[in-house]
Amino acid sequence: MSGRQDWSSRASGPLHGSVRVPGDKSVSHRALMLAAIAEGESRIRGFLEGEDTRATAAVLAQLSVRIETPSPGERVVHGVGLHGLRGTAQVLDCGNAGTGMRLLAGLLAGQAFDCTLIGDASLSKRPMRRVTDPLALMGARIDTHEGLPPLHVHGGQPLHGIRYELPVASAQVKSALLLAGLYAAGETEIIEPHPTRDYTERMLAAFGWPIAFAPGWAKLEGGHALHAADVEVPADFSSAAFFLVAASIVPGSALRLPAVGLNPRRTGLLQALRLMGADIAVENEREAGGEPVGDLVVRHAPLHGVELPEALVPDMIDEFPALFIAAAVAGGRTTIRGAAELRVKESDRIATMASGLRALGAVVEETPDGALIHGGRLGGGTVESHLDHRIAMSFAVAGLVAAAPVRIHDCAHVATSFPGFLELANGCGFALRGAG
Ligand code: S3P
Repeated sequence: MSGRQDWSSRASGPLHGSVRVPGDKSVSHRALMLAAIAEGESRIRGFLEGEDTRATAAVLAQLSVRIETPSPGERVVHGVGLHGLRGTAQVLDCGNAGTGMRLLAGLLAGQAFDCTLIGDASLSKRPMRRVTDPLALMGARIDTHEGLPPLHVHGGQPLHGIRYELPVASAQVKSALLLAGLYAAGETEIIEPHPTRDYTERMLAAFGWPIAFAPGWAKLEGGHALHAADVEVPADFSSAAFFLVAASIVPGSALRLPAVGLNPRRTGLLQALRLMGADIAVENEREAGGEPVGDLVVRHAPLHGVELPEALVPDMIDEFPALFIAAAVAGGRTTIRGAAELRVKESDRIATMASGLRALGAVVEETPDGALIHGGRLGGGTVESHLDHRIAMSFAVAGLVAAAPVRIHDCAHVATSFPGFLELANGCGFALRGAG
């Protein structure tokens, strides 16, 4: 992570043009991991060159996987096969990436060697028992620091499949268990309280592992092999989200976001913004790399507050910071419920968004599992990113409609998921500057 970097964002006029956002973070992590333990050479195109996904690549390289970068956004992974990873005495640094650490915990639980996974200050505060408890039921031995990282994974533990009903909807937990299930005797079956993103299931199938899955359910058995495959990574809907909100709230704006991944478990924000009155069209819908993609065309429209349907929450779990901004400038009140998971993301996103918006003069009431946001005018001010990339980018969007500049502290973490955000944003009309 580079040093501290503040940003200043201010109103600048309508946003225009075409914005090509980087590759999907969830897909990029999974593509690396499956390619690493597959047999043969896999090529990944559209790979996210973010710090999170690069951290996962570095961890796999430490475990003896050869990964080449023929060009930016491309990786060639020389798979070592299911049992070909080699241990190292060094710690494995997942950086800021909860997805990296939790999925790797599942993948590494079935190896012959011990290893230790560490993370940065934000990741070191994130709960890990949600993965280590069910992995223990499979026979894994993983020590935590009172439920938090570092994770010390003991190798050489025979794993067995389990049937597990997830207490919270989490694609990371589901994926960790499925990855451990590759190494387990018998069947691993996962039941979710609400369907979550199914990239792991789809990609396991694409790499040739027999797996049965449907929304909210997945089942596989250990003892098969993965075969190298080429992966085309769609543009990340979560990165597109900031531009969807920005163009919706800045009068006169019209933006095109080409080739964005539209997996239905990711696009809840699209529905939420449309409920609020947004004008967003999907054009050129097609399939790329087994995933639905399309071009999003967003035009300014007056937004109004809504009672957000709770059923949308898991399908927009990473988009709440952006939604908070839309709600803060919409007409009327927006109510968010059933979103307690936001409190254990890269920051406590209910608290960090509420306090940031209040610093800009908004009226926001926090609840344990959501917030009431009273729409109105935003003023200028200074907000903290709390080392959370999505908080920083959301307040960059807020600056576009604030009465005075918004200064955002500590924006370096934006590079974890969206390298080049500042340049892309300024290219379509933001006035976003580094500020010391
Ligand atoms: C992710 C799952 C979600 C999401 C995260 C990426 C994934 O986390 O918030 O950014 O790639 O599986 P949870 O599984 O904790 O909901």
